[in-house]
Amino acid sequence: MNANLENRVDTRIIDEIISKHKGDPGELLTIMEEVQEANEYKYLDDLSMDYLSSKTNVPLSRIYSVATFYSFFNLKPQGKHTLIVCRGTACHTKGSKILLDDLTTLPGCKEAFDQGETTFTTDDMLITIKTVACFGQCALAPVVAVNGVIYSNVTSEQIKKLLVNLQEDNKDENIRLS
Ligand code: FES
Repeated sequence: MNANLENRVDTRIIDEIISKHKGDPGELLTIMEEVQEANEYKYLDDLSMDYLSSKTNVPLSRIYSVATFYSFFNLKPQGKHTLIVCRGTACHTKGSKILLDDLTTLPGCKEAFDQGETTFTTDDMLITIKTVACFGQCALAPVVAVNGVIYSNVTSEQIKKLLVNLQEDNKDENIRLS
């Protein structure tokens, strides 16, 4: 990931999001989701979280704990495409480690995961590789998700094809595997 990349959400946009959802049930989660979505790189940047905390009177520590608890929140800039590999027990048993190894051929990716990272983004910000504990679709193991689309019973050959499609910046969200 480009270490110099910084991006924050305009405070006027955060103000609008807060006022739109003030008083809603579960407003904090909704507000945080929309602030993340408003960020060009789809993550919750530090300055935006600071601002959110000051405007909502929710302690920053609580905002951070919510952001780290839910896997759909990102604390680092995300690539244009996201490929998520499930590393839960059912998927592990069905070979998800091999699928992840197929993706760690991307320069720098293996090192990141070897150091315990659960997310890696290419320097050109094109692809983010992530792992997740379980998609809740264990009967379809091994499972991966590409830009939010779930693929089941994925083979090594198929995940390589998915990766190539993303490297070619394929606009087709639902990539055909067969
Ligand atoms: S362990 Fe992979 S979907 Fe549940």
